[in-house]
Amino acid sequence: MQKLIIEGGYPLTGTIRISGAKNAVLKLMAAALLGKGKFVIRDVPAIKDVYTMIGVLTALGVKAELTDSVLTLEVDQITGEAPTDLVQEMRASIQVMGPLLARLGWVKIAKPGGCAIGDRPIDLHLRNLERLGAVIEEEHGFITARCSRLIGQEISLDFPSVGATENLMMAATLAKGKTVIYNAAREPEIVDIQNFLNQMGAKIYGAGTSVIVIEGIDEKHLGGAEYTVIPDRIEAGTYLLAAAITRGNITLENVNPQHIQVLLSKLTETNSRLSIGLNKITLESGRIIQPANIITLPYPGFATDLQPQFMSLVTLANGSSVIKETVYSRRFGHVEELRRMGADIQLDTNSAIVRGVKQLSGAAVRAMDLRAGAALVIAGLAAHGTTEITGVEHIMRGYERLVEKLQGVGAKINLVSEEGN
Ligand code: UD1
Repeated sequence: MQKLIIEGGYPLTGTIRISGAKNAVLKLMAAALLGKGKFVIRDVPAIKDVYTMIGVLTALGVKAELTDSVLTLEVDQITGEAPTDLVQEMRASIQVMGPLLARLGWVKIAKPGGCAIGDRPIDLHLRNLERLGAVIEEEHGFITARCSRLIGQEISLDFPSVGATENLMMAATLAKGKTVIYNAAREPEIVDIQNFLNQMGAKIYGAGTSVIVIEGIDEKHLGGAEYTVIPDRIEAGTYLLAAAITRGNITLENVNPQHIQVLLSKLTETNSRLSIGLNKITLESGRIIQPANIITLPYPGFATDLQPQFMSLVTLANGSSVIKETVYSRRFGHVEELRRMGADIQLDTNSAIVRGVKQLSGAAVRAMDLRAGAALVIAGLAAHGTTEITGVEHIMRGYERLVEKLQGVGAKINLVSEEGN
């Protein structure tokens, strides 16, 4: 079993280079299934989720290799039957459904289950693929979808789901005619998929707004692509929050400040000073952390994937903060663990009231999911004494070279392996 051991109390100082965005690259990899050819994707983080997606693509018949942040994919003949074990390991695998269905006319994939942060149905994906002409059956834990050629339609999403928007964009790329997605998700990762698909030969516009138009094209017009993934805004936010809680000064490179506007304004509210460059951010912490309220919302609102880490910061604020979670019903797995470290947090359905305390103290805690784990790392970096975090596998799903990056800016953090339980 692996544990992260953190000795808290050292201000982070120095420079961190942000990796390519996990939540973009996983979808670009799925999108590659739509066309035959060679793909070269740069700035791909070497993290567990990327390796899981490589496993999924390999099982589907793709040749994949990741070396020095460059992912090469060779896509030719593929199958529509996704590997159950890997799909169950990572929910994002469901994103292969749209491309496989559109290209092959069939797909069979295990139904994703619930997860630690709340119910995560895929009804919006399925219902709207049906609108495009898919016939979908759910039986024995599997989803089977079939179609002849998908037909472009006007689609209105009940909620701007990131995954549903992406699956539908990919499926509609090869549909006959035009598809318009209303109330589409506006996340930067959606723009990245649009750009990638367009580089493959697709005709999509509007990503980044709530109306996306996909002019369906013929398979023969789609080919390979060379592409560089956008920087990971959640990784960037995590390190800014880590610096702020340790009263440090750090500079992030390879970051797009526009992608984390709301976080930056909340960091200012909590008393950090920021200087913003084109793809660079420097944070200088104030001595006192001021409280701040947040409400998570679809982009451009405050990202739910930064809510747990932000909560860690305000556990040490000079007053009370209210944190409201509107995207995932149960995303408070970090609360009990933060309390174990001395945080004063009161939970009320989807809100948390965090009363700032003078100090956190190191404790043995467990990461329940990826971002909850990041929140515990942040708390551990500021806590008095030693924090031991288990459930490290969740954290490693999404943060490339986390330990090395933090050590590089002065954190006392180590990954240790222990025998037995
Ligand atoms: C993606 C991100 C995840 C992030 C989330 C919201 C990846 C791999 N994951 O997840 O890190 O937290 O966006 O920013 O990119 N919903 C439905 N029906 C559906 C689909 C979604 O009810 O068919 C609900 C979900 O249960 C959830 C909300 O919509 O409450 C948001 O989900 P969605 O935007 O789809 O998130 P993901 O794409 O799964």
